[in-house]
Amino acid sequence: MQKVTFKIRRFDGEKSWVQEYQFPYQPGKTILWALSYIKESIDPTLTFTASCRHAVCGACAVRVNGQAVLACETLLDKMLDRWETDTLLIEPLQNFKVIRDLVVDWETKVERLARVKPWLIPRDEFSKETGCRQTPEEFKKINKNSDCILCGCCASECNKLSNNDSDFLEPFIFSKAQKFIADSRDKDPLSRISTAINNGAWKCMHCQECVTKCPKGLSPADDISFIRQFAIANGIRNNPGTRHAKSFLDDIQKTGRLNEALMFIKTEGLLGSLGSIPVALRLVRKGKLRLKHVLAKPIKEIEQVRTIIKVITKDKK
Ligand code: SF4
Ligand code: SF4
Ligand code: FES
Repeated sequence: MQKVTFKIRRFDGEKSWVQEYQFPYQPGKTILWALSYIKESIDPTLTFTASCRHAVCGACAVRVNGQAVLACETLLDKMLDRWETDTLLIEPLQNFKVIRDLVVDWETKVERLARVKPWLIPRDEFSKETGCRQTPEEFKKINKNSDCILCGCCASECNKLSNNDSDFLEPFIFSKAQKFIADSRDKDPLSRISTAINNGAWKCMHCQECVTKCPKGLSPADDISFIRQFAIANGIRNNPGTRHAKSFLDDIQKTGRLNEALMFIKTEGLLGSLGSIPVALRLVRKGKLRLKHVLAKPIKEIEQVRTIIKVITKDKK
């Protein structure tokens, strides 16, 4: 291969277009090297951000063929091999407002991050003299999420955010919340839990995009599960998410199958379900919802299922 082509989605504040650039192939280079080459040798108006060049600052995240990556640590060869091509589409992160070309606006994200109070609120027994001490075991529970570099890759690929960001926070915000909720030195985990629950912790779609895209190996989806479990354990249960989870578990325990019709009513309540009656009637007409689904009998392996649930729930206690 002599040349590589980048199709770069550009934006000048008013209009957006895709511009093609060709540059000589060199082995062992990164996406960021290629962007810098284009800026220095072909088009000085191309705009992007980068700073540390060592996967530390999080500034260089872009989408390559629809996948968010850090440009400074992503090898051009790897992308060309993966897509079996000599042409890559480079775009700004999704689910962010674009300022110019590949530069996105973090201001709203930082404002949203502040909702979960991402700072330590020390318990009353701590003072300047004693400091905020914790054991190595307690530290281990919160250490992982300190690695977040706020690159935005998880938020870019989050399917729930793409669908509707008005009732859901960015995955990294849930991870930040988890870090302080689990911190033994903090005195206000419950207010962060309430904020997380009221801002979509039960609306995560479990697509795992945030997990597979995080360049630091973090797992916002697991942090969301942690937040849900912490909320239930602390009595924050009066919400559709908790009711849905309970109904799910009850069904599996009872029959080994999900009773989706009743689950909806148990989750949303009778009043909340009224608006869905036309959909239910359509499902009945199409034969997708039958009485036998509502009055389902236990499957023949039900005792094995119940034993599995007993073992899992015992581990959680
Ligand atoms: S698992 Fe949840 S938080 Fe993570 S990307 Fe999917 S919808 Fe978003
Ligand atoms: S959780 Fe991972 S992907 Fe998301 S902002 Fe932090 S480092 Fe980036
Ligand atoms: S330039 Fe800092 S993470 Fe890529």
